[in-house]
Amino acid sequence: MGFYSDIILPRLCDLAMRNRQLVPFRERVIGAAEGRVLEIGVGSGMNLPFYRPPVREVLALEPAPRLIAMARSASRASSMPVTFLEASAEAIPLDKHSVDTVVTTWSLCSIPQAATALAEMRRVLQPGGKLVCTAEVMMPIRGEAD
Ligand SMILES: C[S@@+](CC[C@H](N)C(=O)[O-])C[C@H]1O[C@@H](n2cnc3c(N)ncnc32)[C@H](O)[C@@H]1O
Repeated sequence: MGFYSDIILPRLCDLAMRNRQLVPFRERVIGAAEGRVLEIGVGSGMNLPFYRPPVREVLALEPAPRLIAMARSASRASSMPVTFLEASAEAIPLDKHSVDTVVTTWSLCSIPQAATALAEMRRVLQPGGKLVCTAEVMMPIRGEAD
């Protein structure tokens, strides 16, 4: 932790992710979400305005406190209930099979232990739940019972 990671990096992330060209990808990915949603690496909250029913609630996971503060401000403009989890995707503080959809947009490449994070996403997804993410194509990955 330090000035760069606490102050500069969150601002750079926010600036970069405001790119208008990303909006169609956000609409497509968030439009596939439903039910109780866990968003991994919510950043400054750029996806939050796009959540609509059938999404019921959003659990917004993010390890950087300054980005959580920005996302909290963004969430005030949304009618969707948003709960913030200050945590890393490698150790998701949720029960297994407790969410319907996991969303990740441009976050997997930032997560140091991506394989561990994906295993965690699968653990918290309910059977039949789905992971929706930005990639070359949108890859639906279904949760499975043990
Ligand atoms: C390129 S930004 C994308 C932000 C947001 N998903 C968006 O679409 O605007 C990458 C995000 O991943 C987050 N991140 C980095 N390491 C992480 C980890 N271990 N677990 C969860 N998120 C992480 C960063 O803090 C940052 O918010």
